[in-house]
Amino acid sequence: MSKSKTIRIFDTTLRDGEQSPGASMNIEEKLRIASQLEKLNVDVIEAGFPIASEGDFEAVRKVAQTIKGPQIAGLCRASVMDIDRAWDALKFAGERARIHTFIATSDIHMERKLKMAPEKVKETAVKAVKHAAAYTSNVEFSCEDAVRTRLDFLAEMVEAVIEAGATTINIPDTVGYAIPFEFYNIIKYLKDNVKNIDKAVLSVHCHNDLGLAVANSLAAIQAGAGQVECTINGIGERAGNCSLEEVVMALRTRQDIMPYTTGLNTEFIYGTSRLLSTITGIVVQPNKAVVGANAFAHEAGIHQHGVLMDKETYEIMTPESIGLNTNKLVLGKHSGRHAFVARLKELGYDLSKDDIEKAFVRFKALADKKKEIFDEDLDAIVADEIIRIPEAVKLLQMNVSSGSFAAPTATVELEVHGKRKKAAMMGDGPVDATFKAIKKLTRMQPRLINFSVGSITGGTDAQGECTVRLDFDGHEVLGQGAHSDIIVASAKAFINALNKGLSAAERSSRVEI
Ligand code: KIV
Ligand code: ZN
Repeated sequence: MSKSKTIRIFDTTLRDGEQSPGASMNIEEKLRIASQLEKLNVDVIEAGFPIASEGDFEAVRKVAQTIKGPQIAGLCRASVMDIDRAWDALKFAGERARIHTFIATSDIHMERKLKMAPEKVKETAVKAVKHAAAYTSNVEFSCEDAVRTRLDFLAEMVEAVIEAGATTINIPDTVGYAIPFEFYNIIKYLKDNVKNIDKAVLSVHCHNDLGLAVANSLAAIQAGAGQVECTINGIGERAGNCSLEEVVMALRTRQDIMPYTTGLNTEFIYGTSRLLSTITGIVVQPNKAVVGANAFAHEAGIHQHGVLMDKETYEIMTPESIGLNTNKLVLGKHSGRHAFVARLKELGYDLSKDDIEKAFVRFKALADKKKEIFDEDLDAIVADEIIRIPEAVKLLQMNVSSGSFAAPTATVELEVHGKRKKAAMMGDGPVDATFKAIKKLTRMQPRLINFSVGSITGGTDAQGECTVRLDFDGHEVLGQGAHSDIIVASAKAFINALNKGLSAAERSSRVEI
């Protein structure tokens, strides 16, 4: 068999992934994800879109300064102003900085969005790539909506930008329209018709509108693409992007017919997936391939029997290969700090001493109330105690009376921008009364889009986890809170979303792509 080709993994969780509704992350959170991606050993981290806002710029700059292994990319439109701004943030990554510039090339985008003739689009792209190449030889160019671009024009564009200095050419399926066979042919066409194609790495970037992002990416790789762009848990604009864990594990599992390798430390996949879901509040569906809660659970008796006889009867990859330890140690009130820290590490949480201390205190308090502490409880503790954005609003204490006799009343005491405040409100139910009191104290009036309560694990002593989605003048944020009292969990979730809304407001001057 021929030597296997290495496929570069370009992770865009912090840029395209962050464009998922409700997935916005602050700088601290982005750094946590970036350092997890570093452990995963992805080749490139796209850290943001520096000109989009001050917050994006700072996030890209901090990631460029902090992360040492992977290359760091920043997105920019094909304009001098965007590229200069991106470089100001990226230059801290030195040799590992990558400028990623793009312009749309399909007729529909050129005519209706850009209102530019194809020749003008090509000229703009070439000028942008030349400008970027003056900063670094690591320039990626994307033909936005490449899949709906006329093939002869796509080839013309690709040839021109390679000539101008682009070293990676990305072919995005911006609207998730392609099918695998078609994607294979696009890459093959470019390989066969662009005379300087060997001077650049071809990349694939698929959206999942038809659920084909991973399949299309694999087809592109089989046709000769050398880089795949993807996100953790497949988060991203609309139906999301190609999911990193799926494409990487497909390549790893099907070496027999796909002789491609990635340099990924796949045993960090599970921890990274959990961390992202904890930070964004976007829950991974249980039946999600590779990282879903049921991905390695065998329910049917015949399957369980087979797995007991020989795992390979029903398992095509091992849970350990993605970092999922099936011999889970259940923690309880007699568990010591050692076991606690070890489990957090296995879950992908690398915490400072202070943070471990905070989490351990909370763990002990929970263990006094609850017999067994599961991984999901630990996620909730870490989310609640550690992964919190700077809190302008803090819950100090609350009391709620409700039932079928009197009107539900909530008395809430908060710290708002350093000042203690207390209010009591009545409502249609205990949650409504609580939210009204919080709104009164903070003088914030977001619209509640969604409210859900679930139990983190089984049993009547389980922690309740609440998620709220709020709308701040068109900007959506998710908030989460966990507590053994579900009304307190709801208050925490609401306050978490308010804090996120406040920090999003600081980044309000976003440029739309
Ligand atoms: O989907 C897309 O076209 C993109 C580009 C900006 C690379 O995200
Ligand atoms: Zn995209």
